[in-house]
Amino acid sequence: MAAIGPAPDAEVDWNTAPIPDLLDHLVSTHHDFLRSQLPLLIELAASLERLQGARRTSGLEGLRQILEAYQADVQSHLETEELLLFPAIRLKVRDHEAGIEDRSISTGGLAQTIARMDYEHEATGAVLQLFREMTNGFTVPDSACATHRALIQGLRRLNDDSIEHLRLENDFLFPRVLAL
Ligand SMILES: [Fe+2]
Ligand SMILES: [Fe+2]
Repeated sequence: MAAIGPAPDAEVDWNTAPIPDLLDHLVSTHHDFLRSQLPLLIELAASLERLQGARRTSGLEGLRQILEAYQADVQSHLETEELLLFPAIRLKVRDHEAGIEDRSISTGGLAQTIARMDYEHEATGAVLQLFREMTNGFTVPDSACATHRALIQGLRRLNDDSIEHLRLENDFLFPRVLAL
């Protein structure tokens, strides 16, 4: 008999896994990733600015400011999810499991918050698209120094992680919650 243990994430079926597990996964994987990686990317972008000085040859001019503005937006988005939306979802799931229909006075508020998060996810998609264009599809030029290379590779990881993050929330979490 095969050993029983937690399946790797890639094998989790988020259509059927408990919703609270999905919430835990989103925070511990994707929210933590953003909180740890965005400051590093900003540092790299600032280093590249210093290294390049007036030469400005990377095509990434202005990236530090864009990343800083994005970090502020992301921080507020994550706080809304973790402090407002996810606790409301946990309550809704508990009510649903207890057979309590619509006890929560915040059911309308829940749908509204999800609509707001959806809207902010679209803005995220636009920022990722901008990063993709600025880096020519996250391509490291042959002439890139180590800092430039690390920055583009970091942006690519940010892009990949964000795509998965958005997919889990838009395609699994939100529809499942709205169907409860
Ligand atoms: Fe999230
Ligand atoms: Fe989100």
